[in-house]
Amino acid sequence: MLHDSVQGVIQINVALLKKIGILLSGRGSNFLAIADSIESGRLQAEIAIVISNRADAPGLEAARKRNLNAKLIPSKGRVREEHDAEVLAALKAAGVELICLAGYMRLLSREFVCAFPNRILNIHPSLLPAFPGLDAQKQAIEYGVKVSGCTVHFVDEHLDHGPIILQKTAPVLDGDDEHSLAARILELEHLAYTEAIRLVLGGEIEVRERKVVRTKNSGEGR
Ligand code: GRF
Repeated sequence: MLHDSVQGVIQINVALLKKIGILLSGRGSNFLAIADSIESGRLQAEIAIVISNRADAPGLEAARKRNLNAKLIPSKGRVREEHDAEVLAALKAAGVELICLAGYMRLLSREFVCAFPNRILNIHPSLLPAFPGLDAQKQAIEYGVKVSGCTVHFVDEHLDHGPIILQKTAPVLDGDDEHSLAARILELEHLAYTEAIRLVLGGEIEVRERKVVRTKNSGEGR
């Protein structure tokens, strides 16, 4: 039970909340959507730490403004394994159970991925495996697809590659450019990430080879 009623007030037992670590490099709108979901009670979790590899990431500043544990671990000029080890140590020190990449512009080393098996999520603005990598929305426009969207997936050491948790689709309209498509997809991203985190933290899914499948818990308590 997460809720205890004390003198008629519903309180959340913070000690029981699952701890999330956020890694970001930029704007941080997905991080803020997750934080908003937690604040509004749609997601029962706690953001234990927000780590940016870039000092100028607006998401880092946003985390500080929300009085979250916000940490800069610069990556520039550093060997990946060394940087990853420092990030891992910070996540572990914060007691993180689930890591959410939210616009984190770094590939993770094998050691990092192995330290949190099926406990690292990423969101990507295309229907993977189409258009991995940078500028996914531009790639979709240039290819001429009629439907695009976003994907939340588990992270492995390959780019935008791990097992898919969920996808949401958006139409590509005749007048779209990469910016209008990106804006339409971003609205879906903000919903999708919270949904995916709920599935993972709620133990509602399991990974069988490449496939993420619902377990028999699905839908309970919702
Ligand atoms: C999003 O489009 C996400 O899908 C991709 O990077 C972008 C990050 O945006 N991985 P934001 O920093 O969360 O606003």
